[in-house]
Amino acid sequence: HRLAVLISGSGTNLQAIMDAREHGSLDVEIAVVFSNRANAAGLERASQAGIPTATLDHRDYPSREEFDQAMIDLLTPYAPDTVVLAGFMRILSSVFVRHYAGRLINIHPSLLPKYRGLNTHARALEAGDSEHGCSIHFVTEELDGGPLIAQAPISVQTNDTVDSLSKRVQQREHRLYPQVLQWRAQNRLELTYNGVLLDGKPL
Ligand code: GRF
Repeated sequence: HRLAVLISGSGTNLQAIMDAREHGSLDVEIAVVFSNRANAAGLERASQAGIPTATLDHRDYPSREEFDQAMIDLLTPYAPDTVVLAGFMRILSSVFVRHYAGRLINIHPSLLPKYRGLNTHARALEAGDSEHGCSIHFVTEELDGGPLIAQAPISVQTNDTVDSLSKRVQQREHRLYPQVLQWRAQNRLELTYNGVLLDGKPL
C-alpha cells in the first residue's frame, strides 16, 4: 500500500507514521512526502529516512485549481493508494478532492463536527468543553466535513491551556493515524456510497 503524505509544517504525524512503519505495525510504503512549503521541518524527517520528498510553492500558481492540478501531476508517478493529509495547511479544490475521492484522508484536531477550521483548542477551551480530541475522516469538498473514520477523545482539565491540550491531542493523533492507515493497508477501510465501511460493515 503506497502512501503520499502531504505536510506543511513540523510533521510529527508523519514521524509517527514513519515510526509505526519502522516498528512493523504499519505495512505501507511512503512513496513520497510532499510539502507546499520548502522549509517544512517534516521534509527533513523524510529525507533523513531516505523517503523521496517534493515541493511546489502554491504562490507560483495563479489559481488554487492550477496548483492542485500541478500537485496531481507531481504525485501521479508515485501511484499513491492513499493520500494522507498530515498538517497540510492548504484548502484543496474539487479538482484535487475528486481526483483522489475515496483515497484522501485528513486528521483534524477536534471532535468533528465540532470546530472545523483553525484554532480548535482555543475554541474548545472557550466553550468550556469537558471533552476534546482528534478526528480522522475521508476528505470531501466540504472543509473538515467528510465522513468520519475514527476519533480519539481526551478529557479537558480545569487548568488546561491551548498548549497542554494540543500536546495531549497530538499524542492521540500519533497513535490514531497509523492505526487507521493500517486498516487501509489491509484493505479493510473504504468509502462507498453507503458511507465508510470497515471490514465491509458501516462504522
Ligand atoms: C495536527 O494537529 C493535525 O491535526 C492538524 O495539523 C497538525 C499537524 O501537526 N491538521 P504535525 O505537522 O503533524 O506535527
